[in-house]
Amino acid sequence: MKISKDIAEAAQLLKEGKVVAMPTETVYGLAANALDPSAISEVFAVKERPATNPLIVHIHSLDQLAPLVVERSPNAQKLAEQFWPGPLTLLLKKSDRVSDQVTANSPYVAVRMPKHPVALELLKAVSFPLVAPSANRYTTVSPTTAEHVLQNLGERIPLILDGGPCEKGLESTVVGFDSEDRPLVYRLGAITLESLQSVIQESALFEAPPSGPTHSPGSAKKHYAPSTPLKVVEDLKAFLTHYSGSEKIGVLSFGHENLTTRQTTVVELSQTRDLEEASRNLYRGLYALDEAKVDLIVVEWFENKGLGRTLNDKLKRASF
Ligand code: TXA
Ligand code: MG
Repeated sequence: MKISKDIAEAAQLLKEGKVVAMPTETVYGLAANALDPSAISEVFAVKERPATNPLIVHIHSLDQLAPLVVERSPNAQKLAEQFWPGPLTLLLKKSDRVSDQVTANSPYVAVRMPKHPVALELLKAVSFPLVAPSANRYTTVSPTTAEHVLQNLGERIPLILDGGPCEKGLESTVVGFDSEDRPLVYRLGAITLESLQSVIQESALFEAPPSGPTHSPGSAKKHYAPSTPLKVVEDLKAFLTHYSGSEKIGVLSFGHENLTTRQTTVVELSQTRDLEEASRNLYRGLYALDEAKVDLIVVEWFENKGLGRTLNDKLKRASF
């Protein structure tokens, strides 16, 4: 296993059917040829992911999209024009070229055009589309640096393509469409509900039916979890003031002052309470506090709008 900046070498390995980690603007992905069944099986194996949880297909151009899908609804077209390349994943009716293995037997394929220049260059170098789930073991925290990938996956893959720290630090927003072509958010991510609504006002959050199978497995209750227990509180200062336990506490601060006491390790998400900066730093903070071997990680809920809504969604699953 090595960490490398050599795009040609990564492309060569992908052409040989191998799995390599690649940077994107959201999180690092575990890339493989989306048209090669054995390479796709290897992705599921490396991730220890159940075959029932489908993969996102990554493309570099709309020309590359055409053969993968049978139709693009007007609203899908509109969102693609507005947000691609970028952190938006669209659920579209798949063509026969996309296997049931990729979509876990769904007639819809998840597609996205990433914005990271290294990802785009790699996609152009191989010429086939790439499946790329986040480059972490199933249910654990998505990696936002090459070092995190190494920390999470160790020696399981031959190469990690290093593109520096991810600009967004949160996964893409996954959007499907109902029978009236209304956008439904299946996974909150780097694109906010509000910014979708500024393009298509009817955009809404998908509410899973109370029973029956979840439509998008990524909406699993436990997800993005660090190995250390995580507690989300209403008031961080009050929690720490009243805390009488003896555990070593790791704190994710959002511009809080004077949090350090004898028993705390503080990671600052954003001194200036900037949500984009906090998004970029959340997973990095969870990795750092796992490494610091604290007994408990504590963080305060964000105001529930914009990226704060996405951050709260991740915290809810990470603490489940
Ligand atoms: O930002 C991202 O999306 C990153 C980077 C690497 O592109 N990828 C990523 O992939 O987060 P993954 O596999 O960790 O999450 C994909 C999400 C999962 O929640 C999965 O269930 C959902 O998308 N998904 C994928 N294909 C789907 C499909 N055909 N139907 C419904 N949901 C799908
Ligand atoms: Mg993931």
